[in-house]
Amino acid sequence: MAAATIDDLPPRVLSGIQPSGTIHLGNYFGAIQQHVALQHEFPGEAYYFIADYHALTTLRDPDALRQHVHDVAVTYLACGLDPDKSLLFRQSDVPEVTELTWLLATVTGMGLLERATSYKEKVAQGIKPVAGLFFYPVLMAADILIYGSSLVPVGKDQVQHVEMTRDMATYFNEAFARDTPILRLPEWRLSKAPYVPGLDGRKMSKSYGNTLPLFLTGKQLKKAVGQIVTDSRPLGSPLSFTRTIQEKLHVKVGEDQYQEIEQDKEVPETTFALLELVCDDDELAQIRGWYQTGKRDGADFGWGHAKQLLAGKLDEHFAEARKRREHFLAHPDEVEAILQRSAERARAVARATVDACRRACGL
Ligand code: TRP
Repeated sequence: MAAATIDDLPPRVLSGIQPSGTIHLGNYFGAIQQHVALQHEFPGEAYYFIADYHALTTLRDPDALRQHVHDVAVTYLACGLDPDKSLLFRQSDVPEVTELTWLLATVTGMGLLERATSYKEKVAQGIKPVAGLFFYPVLMAADILIYGSSLVPVGKDQVQHVEMTRDMATYFNEAFARDTPILRLPEWRLSKAPYVPGLDGRKMSKSYGNTLPLFLTGKQLKKAVGQIVTDSRPLGSPLSFTRTIQEKLHVKVGEDQYQEIEQDKEVPETTFALLELVCDDDELAQIRGWYQTGKRDGADFGWGHAKQLLAGKLDEHFAEARKRREHFLAHPDEVEAILQRSAERARAVARATVDACRRACGL
């Protein structure tokens, strides 16, 4: 049988998910929703893993890590990830990925890694510059290349990492596999994610502490939505669709030197921006009218009403997912079995790639 080449590989989508604390609406609309949708575009060829090796670059709490990994798995399953269509596994259940990381490191220039902006930003934020953090892009490249991924859906901040992955694959192929390239070059695709503002109008993010957790319901959800920051204006006057916030920026002022500055920024008003994510066009047209007039059916329509409306819509939108989540929370063994079954399949693919790479470089 002729050896399979990268041209014989089927299209394959892959993404890594950071196992971080409570999953929020920004995670859902920014990533989870797209990942779940892509499993229909790539049935049987959608690879999703929980990046626990990567998480170790910043997390030093084994129980928290295990808990976060489990939470991510439960969340994805709750949100409709179908284990018959997609693989969902722990990065560390495929240890071959660390071996490929080393092989790639041997062909990767320091200069390439030194240009990684996410490393510089993390260090500027005060994260300890351990070697693992510097090596983050190499591990990520191994994640992508080991499965012969053709497409990597990412957020803007990760595009550079996929570009670096293409560079590393090219270096490796040129160094060791000139005639028959072993590593397939992946494409990136920006997730069609809308801007999901958090409670204070800045991008919803755990690091800003402005998140709305995904699975709140009832009173707790109302209370959380009530914390959305709005301007104060007399009841009955129009509500605005935007707000001005102060944004902190790290500006480069020299080689590896950053200064923090504050500047005004106009952002979408959070309540309406979130309504846009969960309402259909007819509902939105109506709500827009209520915002513009400050009236609903003759009565006053203020921020409190808008927030109440949002809480109700969110509650409804995620009702099914919450039900599935309850199921998986009550059956952790089922979740573990899905992770293991996926890891087994992923590992077979990974092993084949690493074996080919080993042979090519003389190991
Ligand atoms: N770096 C990604 C993030 O911070 C997570 C990740 C790790 C990843 N390995 C990956 C994403 C491979 C895509 C492909 O979100």
